[in-house]
Amino acid sequence: MLTEVENLYTTARQELEAIGDARGLEDWRVRYLGKKSQLNTVLRGLAGLPIEERKLVGARANVVKTELEAAYQDRERRLKDSLGAASGEMQFDPTLPGRPYALGHRHPLIRTIYEVCDIFISLGFQISEGPEVEWDRINFGALNIPEEHPARDSMSTSWVDSAGDNRRLLRTHTTSVTARTLKVNDPPIRIVEPGRVYRYEATDATHAHMFHQVDGIAVDTDVTMADLKGTLYEFARRFFGKNTRMRFRCDYFPFVEPGVEGAISCAACDGGGCRLCGNTGWIEILGAGMAHPRVLEQGGIDPERYTGFAFGVGVDRLVMLRHGINDIRLFYNNDLRFLSQFS
Ligand code: DAH
Repeated sequence: MLTEVENLYTTARQELEAIGDARGLEDWRVRYLGKKSQLNTVLRGLAGLPIEERKLVGARANVVKTELEAAYQDRERRLKDSLGAASGEMQFDPTLPGRPYALGHRHPLIRTIYEVCDIFISLGFQISEGPEVEWDRINFGALNIPEEHPARDSMSTSWVDSAGDNRRLLRTHTTSVTARTLKVNDPPIRIVEPGRVYRYEATDATHAHMFHQVDGIAVDTDVTMADLKGTLYEFARRFFGKNTRMRFRCDYFPFVEPGVEGAISCAACDGGGCRLCGNTGWIEILGAGMAHPRVLEQGGIDPERYTGFAFGVGVDRLVMLRHGINDIRLFYNNDLRFLSQFS
């Protein structure tokens, strides 16, 4: 019986080494380590043996079983390694095409800011930027919004220092850069000012506490309302398409007189009235007006000699209108499922 076990062991080891593929390895496992293996038959037959022989054969058979198991695992590992190498799994094939790098792209808001600026650059404007943390006296004072003026309430302000003479805030509009532009430039001036602005407001689908504007100012002798209309009309047609019409209606902003709101004809219904435009046929996109004499004066420009027009556009709204986006928060969540649609 013992000889039988030894023979079994020797043959099993020899056969194991000769195996060349996974299939052969599995057959071997069933044959030598499976339930119906010869070794198990021996172990099951132990009961019928005399006690001395039973001890001897039993002990040896158990050792053989453990060793065959270890040998099996070792062979399996070596076989895998050699098969992997042979099939080229570990090798480098220089003829394969490279893996493409996924290129990123600009955020839809930034892209639109560039686009808006490009339109105005082609109309002779230059770009200027200003700080987001701004003086009260620039954001409001230089724009004809004195202290205690009710217009301050309409621009829910985030204060940085709200006490003392040098109060600072997060600018509520990029018109603050217009105030700066007027102080450091002499006419003729034609400048647009893109940037982030802040309002102390609860966030919902149409309000964000931070959003984007582009303001603009043009000052020269003989600048008139016709220049304002012509320039903004051209902008609207280039941005929204050449069939876009524009409507100007009276509005109030302390820094302009007269002030207007500019609306474009609704692209969805072409002015007929639909849900998008609230059945009016028009969609408001900007504020504008003729620079207030006091604003020019504060900028060191003689209002007797010069006139100017100014405007401010909300960039987020432009993108929302153009792409039918109904929630401003989508711009700020950094969800690639949204952003990658603008690649
Ligand atoms: N600053 C205004 C706002 O944030 C927009 C605006 C209106 C800007 C009229 C202007 C302007 O330059 O002339 O609501």
